[in-house]
Amino acid sequence: MNIEIISLPKIEERRGNLSVIEGNTIPFDIKRVYYLYDVPSGAERGGHAHKNLKQFLVALSGSFDVVLKNATEEKIITLNKPYEGLLINPGIWREIRNFSSGSVCLAVVSEVYEEDDYIRDFDAFMQYVNGKL
Ligand code: TYD
Repeated sequence: MNIEIISLPKIEERRGNLSVIEGNTIPFDIKRVYYLYDVPSGAERGGHAHKNLKQFLVALSGSFDVVLKNATEEKIITLNKPYEGLLINPGIWREIRNFSSGSVCLAVVSEVYEEDDYIRDFDAFMQYVNGKL
């Protein structure tokens, strides 16, 4: 599956830690940043795929599971470190669940918001990826 865990620099000091995402950390130009927070217990986010957008997710606080599907595989990646992120390339279905209380999911992405880039129906997604095989 076309995903990658990428470690971020971690600058540890007695006054606290600092991690950074900059140009050469992730393999795309950053066009947008958004974040999920105040997610109620049991709620699910995501539930879509993208045709072109690349996305890098980081658990800035707490933890959550990212369920990933392509035409043939399913994977579950738990994100729980603010100095590590998950790169999701286009054409992969993602659902985000099991948010811990107070968790924050940072999304750094390669495109501005464009609803036409989303595939929000799972059957339509399977048709899309099978057509590409
Ligand atoms: P949605 O894509 O459903 O969130 P998620 O996949 O993380 O569960 O987006 C929720 C709403 O927010 C939807 O109405 C679109 C809007 N939205 C924006 O206006 N701009 C954005 O950058 C994003 C990501 C969402």
